[in-house]
Amino acid sequence: MDWYKDKKVVITGGSSGIGKAAAKWLAQWGAQVCIIGRDATRLETALQEIKACAAAPEQTVTAVSADVADRAALKEAASGIVKKLGGIDVLINSAGVTFPGYLSDTPDTVWDSMMQIDYMGTVNAVRAFLPWFMEQRHGSIANISSVVGYMGVFGYAAYGAAKFAVVGFSECLRQDLLPYNINISVVYPPDTDTPQWHEENKIKPPETRALSGTIKVMRPEDVSLALLKGVSRRAFTIVPGAMNRFTYFMSRHLPTVVWMIVSGDLRKYWKKHPIAHA
Ligand SMILES: NC(=O)c1ccc[n+]([C@@H]2O[C@H](COP(=O)([O-])OP(=O)(O)OC[C@H]3O[C@@H](n4cnc5c(N)ncnc54)[C@H](OP(=O)(O)O)[C@@H]3O)[C@@H](O)[C@H]2O)c1
Repeated sequence: MDWYKDKKVVITGGSSGIGKAAAKWLAQWGAQVCIIGRDATRLETALQEIKACAAAPEQTVTAVSADVADRAALKEAASGIVKKLGGIDVLINSAGVTFPGYLSDTPDTVWDSMMQIDYMGTVNAVRAFLPWFMEQRHGSIANISSVVGYMGVFGYAAYGAAKFAVVGFSECLRQDLLPYNINISVVYPPDTDTPQWHEENKIKPPETRALSGTIKVMRPEDVSLALLKGVSRRAFTIVPGAMNRFTYFMSRHLPTVVWMIVSGDLRKYWKKHPIAHA
């Protein structure tokens, strides 16, 4: 995609899943890319994979280890990253964690980490790079939310609240940054075949599994392609996948129908499997 040629792109969570898939497309299209993640080994492995996709040997493809929940560390890393890339045109906030479970069993640490990483991690990254965006008066920021950022889903109270918060933050940000010509996008991926999805499948309550059972799982390559196309079109709302777009439409325009379907499915499930945890 020509729009990304020579663009300087920073991706939090670029060492795995959707973020890594986006970095590979970008490298292929001639962008200068910096990925951010915590685990150094995972970063290095991803870096080699992304470099192998680069269109030209002189392209900058680099990695920085930082925790998005650590505001000060991220702020400090930002200037080094901008220097290395020679600027910043696009910031993609893909860093995130999830931990589905029954509300009453969800430990304090999970409630805290969802907000600190999924929500504050996004806020911290935006604030760390904002001075450059505001000074140059152009650029794009894409924040990754989730299906559970536009509708509540059983088992995702902690994660869903953080992903709704990302949407609220992005809506305000969009207005704040209007005079600076900075475009904001929010991305709502459905279930996507990534390491995070495989991990959460091990602990999902059966009710959550029953609700998402018929929904098609997308590939990270397709989700990231939809994300990158949306950003290049300056779209605010990016909903990858046809089934996901239908669900998004229904939840926005016919929320009572969605509630009737979801609560009906849950009741049907509990009729067959009486509640053990209640
Ligand atoms: N997969 C899905 O089904 C799905 C659906 C909807 C939304 N999403 C959202 O999409 C985004 C990407 O998810 P994914 O499935 O691609 O996950 P993934 O494969 O687990 O990748 C997550 C990335 O975020 C990084 N990360 C996590 N915590 C971090 C922190 N505190 N600081 C810096 N980096 C951190 C990870 O690296 P380190 O762990 O090494 O730091 C990794 O690079 C997330 O925001 C997720 O919530 C995913």
